[in-house]
Amino acid sequence: MISVEGLRIEYGRGRRRTLAVERVDFRVADGEFVSLIGPSGCGKTSILLAIDGIIRPTAGRITVQGEEVRGVRRDVAFITQDAGLLPWKTVRGNAELALRLQRRPREGVREILRTLGLGGFENRYPAELSEGMRRRVGIARALALRPEVFLMDEPMANLDTLTRERIQEIILSLWHMYRFAGVLVTHDIEEAAFLGQRIIILSPRPARVVEVIENPDMGGVEYRRSPEFYRVVTRAREILKSLET
Ligand SMILES: Nc1ncnc2c1ncn2[C@@H]1O[C@H](COP(=O)(O)OP(=O)(O)OP(=O)(O)O)[C@@H](O)[C@H]1O
Ligand SMILES: [Mg+2]
Repeated sequence: MISVEGLRIEYGRGRRRTLAVERVDFRVADGEFVSLIGPSGCGKTSILLAIDGIIRPTAGRITVQGEEVRGVRRDVAFITQDAGLLPWKTVRGNAELALRLQRRPREGVREILRTLGLGGFENRYPAELSEGMRRRVGIARALALRPEVFLMDEPMANLDTLTRERIQEIILSLWHMYRFAGVLVTHDIEEAAFLGQRIIILSPRPARVVEVIENPDMGGVEYRRSPEFYRVVTRAREILKSLET
């Protein structure tokens, strides 16, 4: 479980001080998938970085699996919108990278690449792939860690609609298979509703939780064609619009 309590994140000092996150509370149970959505620059990435242990909260408390986060953890994976691939390493080399850095056995990577539709491409280099494939390699690298917690910072940003939806479906099926606790940051309301069992809506900076929409019917590929999906998307859109000034 992830627990975020009274999270406050400030950057800089004096006149350069920026309050990014004000007092954010939420929990993500084991195996639960939550979407975080909010205006540009409101503090979403900062929240993920704090959960991952990359930055330290100014105040508040974050625990993962009951332990206070004090640095990067082995059971937490983080992916960003640029997949962060090393151009001189092959698909397989990139997918194994996180395991290698943690000196862990590199088993299971082939299978993960196959699951992600990258089976025939293990020896290719990132430059030889489409953008959608590169993102999938980034996902494979994170997944190879068999994370308990999977943090995703706009992993589908700047992809065409169909590629984006295809990767959303892949993430959904991976979640069904591996049952990690997922936190997805996205600008895309439909993406938030397709993948989030709960959608946490954040205010403009400094981020605070404005509203939480329950989305119990998500979980199937067909969900985006249902009236319930449309209702959830409309509700989220109304709340986000009401935050614009
Ligand atoms: N390292 C840093 N030093 C100083 N200020 C920072 C730093 N990182 C982020 N900020 C500021 O904190 C605020 C929140 O940034 P953050 O990246 O968390 O927002 P975001 O919601 O992820 O934005 P976006 O939607 O554009 O990705 C912004 O005002 C940003 O300028
Ligand atoms: Mg961000």
